[in-house]
Amino acid sequence: MNKELLNWEKTVGITFLRDIGVKEKDVVIDFGCGAGFYCISAAFIVGAGGKVYAIDKSGNGFRSLRDRYSQSGLKNIEMIKTNGELDLNLQNEIADVALLYDVLHYFSDQNRKNLIKEMRRLLKKEAILSIHPTHLKTTAFKHLINEIVELGFDYKGISKGNLIHYNFFEVSLVYNFKRA
Ligand SMILES: C[S@@+](CC[C@H](N)C(=O)[O-])C[C@H]1O[C@@H](n2cnc3c(N)ncnc32)[C@H](O)[C@@H]1O
Repeated sequence: MNKELLNWEKTVGITFLRDIGVKEKDVVIDFGCGAGFYCISAAFIVGAGGKVYAIDKSGNGFRSLRDRYSQSGLKNIEMIKTNGELDLNLQNEIADVALLYDVLHYFSDQNRKNLIKEMRRLLKKEAILSIHPTHLKTTAFKHLINEIVELGFDYKGISKGNLIHYNFFEVSLVYNFKRA
């Protein structure tokens, strides 16, 4: 793993997630976490009193995440390897923040809605849903915002950051919602 990526999750990533509203003692769900750059940043913010659920259907990213996690001194990430199901084995309203970063393009229209509904089930009232909608046409963003509002969220606006997309840095936008 290159040094800039390792540095990002302890610096820029933390600042970015704080800006979208992640705070100490929060419970964060990172669905489709991949190698878990955002998980590590979130885990530093939420601290020992909080928790990060790193969820992915592939074990590939977990190998890298596990290495970095064990070297970080953090003890607050739970890695959950699924079979791709959208009904997760977690209780209702456990989370303060859910991240759907660079993952929505994996889903059909219907399953994208099912995923948003599942995040709504897991989020507390007024909790944050943050979406990094990559690989979508610009015209699809407005439709996506309307769809998420219709599924029971209030749209809060855009955050811009120097984000990681795969293993590259990219100035990019995320869309933030509050669970209504
Ligand atoms: C492109 S990566 C994004 C990783 C990370 N969120 C990021 O922004 O760096 C997308 C990840 O979503 C995972 N994924 C796709 N469909 C999924 C599903 N149904 N359940 C869990 N994970 C899924 C993939 O395995 C992959 O690791």
